Amino acid sequence: MAATISTIAHYFPSTIIENSYFENYLDTSDEWIVKRTGIKERRFALEGATSDLIIPAAKKCLEKRKIRPKEIDCIIVCTVTPDHSFPSTACVVQDKLGCKNAWGFDLSAACSGFLFGLSTAVSLVNSKQCKKVLLCGADKMTSILNLNDRNTAVLFGDGAGVCIVEESNNPNLGFIDTVMHIDGAGGKYLKKISGGSFLPSWHSSVKDEVHYFFQEGQSVFKTAVSEMSNAVYDLMKKQKMTQKDITWLVPHQANLRIINAVGDRLNIPPEKVVINVDKFGNTTAATIPSAISQLSEDRKLRVGDNVVMCAFGGGFTWGASLLKWNPYQA
Ligand code: ACO
Repeated sequence: MAATISTIAHYFPSTIIENSYFENYLDTSDEWIVKRTGIKERRFALEGATSDLIIPAAKKCLEKRKIRPKEIDCIIVCTVTPDHSFPSTACVVQDKLGCKNAWGFDLSAACSGFLFGLSTAVSLVNSKQCKKVLLCGADKMTSILNLNDRNTAVLFGDGAGVCIVEESNNPNLGFIDTVMHIDGAGGKYLKKISGGSFLPSWHSSVKDEVHYFFQEGQSVFKTAVSEMSNAVYDLMKKQKMTQKDITWLVPHQANLRIINAVGDRLNIPPEKVVINVDKFGNTTAATIPSAISQLSEDRKLRVGDNVVMCAFGGGFTWGASLLKWNPYQA
């Protein structure tokens, strides 16, 4: 038995923020942002929470799969920007969608969230604990972004990618394997200090601006390139695959230079590397599912395609996964 992504959809808010927006009030330029990150524009959600990004994508998924909300038996929300610390965003989504028969939970693995969530959803399906898992990768990064800090403001956007994970109708197709890691020693390079039990939200934490996302860009950059490449190598070795067997490489979309460096290290031709960072920036847990959803909408995915995903994010967390594409409708 294998589990597969039976259907997938994405949602980005309608407000497009071009690089010129930041030129108006920060010491930055379109030229710098494009050259150093590859990002030309991103979407900002001007209202609502992360669950409000998930709901339109989840509804699209249910419509495409032609099932009712009550057929979903588990909801996993991968996010670092939950609506609240509790209740979980999975509970909020369950209520808003009317998934009366679902249990669920949030999963925190930053930019690797979707890969960790996919592995979890597959395990729930393979062990027959669940039939249809609604797996959501979503972040409203603007809720933790310091828009006055040029180092981070220009990098992120808001968005969601949602899929249904269920039994594959072909045991040889669907989710095949994964390689996943965490290294807490990397926590200091990429973090949001306050708002948890370590340093609760308080006047002083807001005054010190530690309620915002923080990263030491260069350290993260170097580790992201080497570990994403290593994870894909390890996965290929485990699966006795070569680069030629990869139909699509779907890397986490943080920076075009990171994506290109990973593609070069792995010797994968650029036309096989999926990119949407130019249009949407880094949407954290949403980058991989939204990129796959767009690829599917563009009718570029074929049944049996080897889709290799890789991610790196705060924690540090990282990994790579192989999916032999097998949706319920091609
Ligand atoms: N406009 C103009 N100048 C800028 C900007 C900007 N928007 N941002 C930074 N600079 C300046 C810096 O201040 C610095 O100036 P200085 O030399 O006078 O000090 C200079 O540009 C170079 O800064 P670097 O940090 O060396 O720039 P770099 O080329 O490394 O690019 C970036 C920075 C884009 C952040 C890059 O390091 C990166 O992409 N890092 C990895 C991001 C990532 O993968 N994050 C992980 C996922 S996020 C998650 O898990 C939630």
